[in-house]
Amino acid sequence: MAKKAIEIKNLNFTYPDGTQALKDVSLDILEGEAVGIIGPNGAGKSTLLLHFNGILSGNNHIRIFDIPISDKTLPQIRRKVGLIFQDPNNQLFMPTVFDDVAFGPLTMGLSKDKVQTAVDEALGEVDLLNCRRRSSHHLSSGQKKRVALATVLSMNPEILVLDEPSSDLDPKHRRDLIVILKRLTATKIIATHDLDLVLEVCSRVVIIDEGKVVAIGDAREVFNNKQLLESHNLGVPSALCRIG
Ligand SMILES: Nc1ncnc2c1ncn2[C@@H]1O[C@H](COP(=O)(O)OP(=O)(O)O)[C@@H](O)[C@H]1O
Ligand SMILES: [Mg+2]
Repeated sequence: MAKKAIEIKNLNFTYPDGTQALKDVSLDILEGEAVGIIGPNGAGKSTLLLHFNGILSGNNHIRIFDIPISDKTLPQIRRKVGLIFQDPNNQLFMPTVFDDVAFGPLTMGLSKDKVQTAVDEALGEVDLLNCRRRSSHHLSSGQKKRVALATVLSMNPEILVLDEPSSDLDPKHRRDLIVILKRLTATKIIATHDLDLVLEVCSRVVIIDEGKVVAIGDAREVFNNKQLLESHNLGVPSALCRIG
């Protein structure tokens, strides 16, 4: 039996303004799994993801590889969990693309040579080696998204948490992203409206609506349940749409 990479038990979260964004969420994600989190706008997907490396903490109901997330364990948790924000502007803060991607490996204490190699590999993966000396803030939003992915790939985390990773990507780089995600053996949790990406990359799907988990199941089974998808304002992956 695979280990639990993430265990969430009865998680509730309310923002300071009183918006209750998560309601009694319980979910286990196994080591090596790829899980798609889908649901309409405002369902609570991003809020849930922000709990996985302790950026938000409602109550102490999450364990990462059996380690409870707390102030004391946070450095350890952040080495295991790489989170890519929905908005890359929240991820990029250094003067150059190189510095942004090197930041994680440097804080992990890698030697200069190893940092260099990790950065080159990560930037190569996202096809941005030639932008390494540029300022992240001068890139297009799709390029920023790819730098944000590289900042996490360079750390080679055991768990990869991605919030809308394909939004703003052109078709070629979306395709490349899917290939990268399929190849990575890390445990993956992907919140997205890109149902075709979920169908290709994820074995399981979780539907969240109004802060609650409303369905968990095998990706193909969930995507074949048109009534379930429609009742939560979701479509069907185009790969599964039949003509006529
Ligand atoms: N910083 C915030 N302060 C108050 N409410 C927020 C904040 N961020 C998100 N929300 C609210 O929490 C709910 C869930 O939002 P979010 O997790 O961003 O949903 P999703 O990612 O599924 O679109 C929504 O009602 C949203 O308006
Ligand atoms: Mg979101």
